Amino acid sequence: MEEAGRERDRTVAVEVEDTSAATKDAAAVSTKPAKRYPLALWIAILGLIMLVGVYIFSLSLKQNGMLFGLMQANMIEKEREKPCHDPRIPDAEIPYVHYPTPNTYDRLVTDSRVPRFVREECVCTGVRFFAILSMQRSGSGWVETLLNSHPNISSNGEIFSVKERRSNITAITKTLDKLYNLDWYSSAAKNECTAAVGLKWMLNQGLMKNHQEMVKYFNRRGVSAIFLLRRNLLQRYVSILANAHDSAMKQLNGTHKAHVHSKDEAEILAQYKPTIDRKMLITELKRSDKLASDALVNFKNTRHIVLYYEDVVRNRTKLMDVLDFLRMPKRKLSSRHVKIHTKQLYDHIDNWADVNNALMGTRFESFLNGSSRRRS
Ligand SMILES: *[C@@H]1O[C@H](CO)[C@@H](O)[C@H](O)[C@H]1NC(C)=O
Ligand SMILES: *[C@@H]1O[C@H](CO)[C@@H](O)[C@H](O)[C@H]1NC(C)=O
Ligand SMILES: *[C@@H]1O[C@H](CO)[C@@H](O)[C@H](O)[C@H]1NC(C)=O
Ligand SMILES: *[C@@H]1O[C@H](CO)[C@@H](O)[C@H](O)[C@H]1NC(C)=O
Ligand SMILES: *[C@@H]1O[C@H](CO)[C@@H](O)[C@H](O)[C@H]1NC(C)=O
Repeated sequence: MEEAGRERDRTVAVEVEDTSAATKDAAAVSTKPAKRYPLALWIAILGLIMLVGVYIFSLSLKQNGMLFGLMQANMIEKEREKPCHDPRIPDAEIPYVHYPTPNTYDRLVTDSRVPRFVREECVCTGVRFFAILSMQRSGSGWVETLLNSHPNISSNGEIFSVKERRSNITAITKTLDKLYNLDWYSSAAKNECTAAVGLKWMLNQGLMKNHQEMVKYFNRRGVSAIFLLRRNLLQRYVSILANAHDSAMKQLNGTHKAHVHSKDEAEILAQYKPTIDRKMLITELKRSDKLASDALVNFKNTRHIVLYYEDVVRNRTKLMDVLDFLRMPKRKLSSRHVKIHTKQLYDHIDNWADVNNALMGTRFESFLNGSSRRRS
């Protein structure tokens, strides 16, 4: 972007020079007839000088406009001037369509686990930037695999689970810039042209802590946010406790799995029924409820869509709304993930009576009725 901006300035400078050179030429050519028609010639030259003056003045206005940051208008202009501009894209969309120039274009990349070849014919494929904003145990792993089953979508996982990448704004920005420049290698790399690139980002991984800066970044770079939240935070809490238990016990042949790909594995993990501490429960529900609602408030001025896990479980077609939002062609999406907790909630909690008593009459009462239906 910066580079493109500078390129533009240079072009402007050259144009100005050319124009004045043309003026000089015109004057030089016209010196002889000047003796025969002095008045008409002087008027013509004067007119020409005035025109050039107005032209230069308008150019300088344009540049000043850029300096004083007419952000949106300039973004539109910059994108328009790129050689890849696609006339089918409406003006309002232009800030969200990018033409990244990865440092690795057009060569085989083998310095990662997944070798990939970035193809030259993708250079003029418009790319949308997105971020799946979610919380742990809210189905973001599942939704990400579904999106990644689309040939043009590349979502690169929980990049900010690595602490150094989120230790300060500079580190976060550097990581995002690399990702959105298509220079991030993960198993999400595609053979097709990537037309939407993103990551999943947990609210507690430096996102909410730096929300003001991140909103600015999203709006500056044209990043679209996909909120993925859970309606039933009690179910989420059960999933957190069960996952923590498996992390310690490694119930599947001595390995811990946060997501499973078979019903057998799901059944083994679902056998564990947590005993829930009443006080901890209320504290946790309040905390996660506040985190989610704060996130929606903080990011309300970004381009975003809000998706609830339960709605997607019930109706996979909800994901077509996400494809629409990313302006991707509709495709059937698939995932190998198998849902772990599929029974009524009271079948997944050891001390159901306590939990029931704790939540009755509170604003979390409706969570008690939650049932998870099978996904497929
Ligand atoms: C930001 O974090 C990175 C990675 O942890 C570190 O190398 C760098 O020095 C930090 N920069 C500032 C300004 O704190
Ligand atoms: C998806 O990838 C194909 C094949 O690389 C490409 O022709 C197509 O334009 C891409 N779709 C979009 C929406 O960019
Ligand atoms: C555990 O390992 C055995 C033998 O390798 C295999 O048959 C079984 O499916 C595994 N179970 C799980 C839950 O992974
Ligand atoms: C499923 O979701 C789609 C997309 O949001 C919606 O149009 C449709 O009405 C939903 N179907 C049901 C049965 O709720
Ligand atoms: C739960 O559902 C039952 C019937 O399905 C209803 O009678 C009860 O009032 C509901 N309770 C809550 C807390 O929503």
